[in-house]
Amino acid sequence: MAESLAVVPGSFDPITLGHRDVIERTTGLFDQVIVGVADNHAKQALFSLEERLELIEECVAGLENVRAAAIRGLLAEFCRQVGATVIVKGLRGGQDLGHEEPMALVNKELTGVETIFLAAAPAWGHVSSSIVKDVAKHGGDVSSYVSPGVRVALLRQLGRSVQ
Ligand code: PNS
Repeated sequence: MAESLAVVPGSFDPITLGHRDVIERTTGLFDQVIVGVADNHAKQALFSLEERLELIEECVAGLENVRAAAIRGLLAEFCRQVGATVIVKGLRGGQDLGHEEPMALVNKELTGVETIFLAAAPAWGHVSSSIVKDVAKHGGDVSSYVSPGVRVALLRQLGRSVQ
């Protein structure tokens, strides 16, 4: 039987422990998982695509059957090319659903790829890359929200001292 493959897409600027939780839970549902990194046209990224890929590799090290890849065009087309029939996204509540539902429907119309939503675990429901960047920018401690490597990269990128 063919192996099942899911894509967990996002801008991951940077990857948080909330993202990691969704990726880990996805490994329990599919044989292989690709963490797909794309630019969100609505957001100005702090890290380059290459830097985000490296930070994902560091954060998901230890999770089996997970790899990271850049998505440079349409997510739906990327899924078709790699043979993934499912997109998995974490949902942190109604606001996320309002944003994600149209994308899920368009992706389905484009190539037939389905989207499955995982409810964010309560421990991570309030965590987002945007909040983490804002906390770090203002000198707050982000070590509960991101992996050690991401924390260091974030502080360096923001020109703050790393302790
Ligand atoms: O983490 P984000 O910012 O919510 O992720 C959004 C992302 C990157 C998954 C979305 O912008 C995307 O799929 N971009 C790739 C281009 C694409 O397929 N656009 C049409 C979406 S219906």
